[in-house]
Amino acid sequence: MTEPINTLITAQLDALLHGETNLTANLANASALLKQTVADINWAGFYLYQPQTDDLILGPFQGNVACVHIENNRGVCGTALSTQTTQRIADVHQFAGHIACDSASNAEIVVPLTLADGTKLGVMDIDSPSIDRFSVDDQHVLEEFARVLLTHVDKA
Ligand code: SME
Repeated sequence: MTEPINTLITAQLDALLHGETNLTANLANASALLKQTVADINWAGFYLYQPQTDDLILGPFQGNVACVHIENNRGVCGTALSTQTTQRIADVHQFAGHIACDSASNAEIVVPLTLADGTKLGVMDIDSPSIDRFSVDDQHVLEEFARVLLTHVDKA
């Protein structure tokens, strides 16, 4: 059983991003913090919402090269976007429409990133080679991580 995600990661993020609101810089450092801190993951990063085309485009990440465009409501990321709910998937191969970017990925969690005024920023996506990697407690830590991250984003 993989160790739970340490709740301290949100305080680490808050300190790491202190005084900076640049979106690219903060998403880049957030993905690096996730990748170097969370055990048993092979990809951590962001897809950004493009209102003009109503889809997601690849943003800062750590891991193998990944798909660039994801349609709204497609795959785990597109479902998190369209439903505005966290998708915690124990086995992506059981998820209809899952987009396989890295064959090593078996479990996935995707948290929507939406500002308080409703502006959709995109989603945070974390993949693991281990089936059922992410617990409900992990989900809560990652949702708090996303909430803290949004406090460090300059609204475009
Ligand atoms: N598996 C995702 C696509 C993104 S990669 O995992 C980085 C999905 O189904 O949305």
